[in-house]
Amino acid sequence: MERTMGRRLVAWLGILLYTSSSLLPWMGVGSAPRARTADAAVEGVNAGQKLVALTFDDGPKNSTLTLLDGLAQRGVPATFFLIGEQIPGREGTLRRMAEEGHELGIHSYTHAALTGLNNADFYGEVDRTRTVIQNVVGPVDLLLRPPYGMVDAGVRRRANAPIILWSVDPEDWKDRNTDREVNHVLRQVRDGSIILFHDIYPESVEAALQIVDALHQDGYYFVTVSQLFSLRDRPLESGQTYCHAYP
Ligand code: NI
Repeated sequence: MERTMGRRLVAWLGILLYTSSSLLPWMGVGSAPRARTADAAVEGVNAGQKLVALTFDDGPKNSTLTLLDGLAQRGVPATFFLIGEQIPGREGTLRRMAEEGHELGIHSYTHAALTGLNNADFYGEVDRTRTVIQNVVGPVDLLLRPPYGMVDAGVRRRANAPIILWSVDPEDWKDRNTDREVNHVLRQVRDGSIILFHDIYPESVEAALQIVDALHQDGYYFVTVSQLFSLRDRPLESGQTYCHAYP
């Protein structure tokens, strides 16, 4: 509890400084803090602002907490596609995600491919996970990212959610090499990108936070996936797939 309050205090002080003075460069603060909540993040964006969405699959795990700490320090929201069977015992992590302005989505219940499933198995993977998440954070709309990005007509028909893929994939599961992942993303990223990471690896968490710092210096603004499409005036529709929101 104390840590949460301390973090909030630091964030609010940061916002206060950012909005009320031009002292930040003088104080040696490199990148201005970003607003933390969903509404504030959207309000703070100008037309033509470079936008990017960080997404994390396969959590929640212990390393997710390190990531949440780093994102909170930087005032950056992300989108988390969750594994349902990993949620029991980690409800506090989900509540924290929701409180800190992150967007939640469904990955599946057991990380099974969703293609070729019968109705019962599909609902057991997707709707069961939706119920588990909503039981923790309330009746929020949830995006879907199918494991392995595998989509077929059955997935589209039964998704009951927009299907979110990605445009930048550092394949962080391959060698778990922070420097390589950072370089890959910084080479590939552009305005409107959706970046894929897995918050189950400490190397990925470190890479993602380094990328936040680098892209802040480059004028990017971090938003959730729904904010990204909302800001680009592109409605997300159930059963449709989306990889990016390039201008
Ligand atoms: Ni996955």
